[in-house]
Amino acid sequence: MIQSPLNYTGGKFKLLPQLLPLFPNNIHTFVDLFCGGCNVGINVKAQKHIYNDTNRYLLYLYNTLKNNDRDVTLETVYNIIEKYGLSLVSKYGYDYYDCNSSSGLGRYNKEKYLKLRNDFNFNTSEDYYYYTMLYVMIVYSFNNQIRFNSKGEFNLPVGKRDFNQRMESKLIDFIDTIKKQDSQFSCLDFNDFNTSQLTENDFVYIDPPYLITCATYNEQDGWNEDKEKKLLSFIDKLTSNKIKCALSNVLRSKGKKNSILIEWLEKNQDKYTVHELKYSYANSNYHTKDKTDSSQEVLITNY
Ligand SMILES: C[S@@+](CC[C@H](N)C(=O)[O-])C[C@H]1O[C@@H](n2cnc3c(N)ncnc32)[C@H](O)[C@@H]1O
Repeated sequence: MIQSPLNYTGGKFKLLPQLLPLFPNNIHTFVDLFCGGCNVGINVKAQKHIYNDTNRYLLYLYNTLKNNDRDVTLETVYNIIEKYGLSLVSKYGYDYYDCNSSSGLGRYNKEKYLKLRNDFNFNTSEDYYYYTMLYVMIVYSFNNQIRFNSKGEFNLPVGKRDFNQRMESKLIDFIDTIKKQDSQFSCLDFNDFNTSQLTENDFVYIDPPYLITCATYNEQDGWNEDKEKKLLSFIDKLTSNKIKCALSNVLRSKGKKNSILIEWLEKNQDKYTVHELKYSYANSNYHTKDKTDSSQEVLITNY
């Protein structure tokens, strides 16, 4: 199984063994409508893949990884690390940086990372180099997250880790697979996605932000009840057009319940099947203390 090179919040990597067997066979076009880290689409066999998300930076980054030569991308990653003087423990070890594994590399990398972040935020040519800078920045950022402020500036502080062997392997595997796929990237609100191009052999996987949990992509113009209702109408439209789809979500989490979704399911019992999944902590925030807190994670299918 290929893991996204981005440590993406809400990523479904750990749930894949439960999700993939529930997907249809022989998919012509697989639409990853809220692709995020691409953990799902990258592991689905289909003749064609469409990756969609409202975060344009992600899509340009994937486009760069797909279309730039793999070795050139890796060379550029190492050039950027060297240019900014960022740490590379896999080569030099912790002692070289006067740091250790438990406190991490943040102290050493802070100023260097901020210079990279500043250069990225004030760069005007959005080319392959620019998106490779974005990748390096994510690797060295806090918890490897992606967050932009309302002015469109990347605003995460430095993290504890650097570009290690595991990250390099994940990057290589992802690049090799995305290059083999016949894939397209689109940056649309799900509601503007043109479903008239789809047929009965296609499959839409829908993994929106969850209404009752929070994530960085829920900040600013975040997910809300209105969007949730529009999404459910969008799914009803796919269903009446006989296009197969599956929705990931949680019905309950940490004492909250998603009443909109639960009521919609009750009203449409004949149309949708609810598959209960074993919670994977996939959506746990790093500072969630109580990992035992129950969450009812489901996949809802229209087939
Ligand atoms: C739960 S994440 C998807 C994770 C992904 N399935 C994975 O495994 O890596 C939800 C994604 O929805 C995107 N998103 C939020 N609002 C959206 C909208 N209105 N239309 C399309 N994508 C949206 C966010 O940017 C985020 O990447």
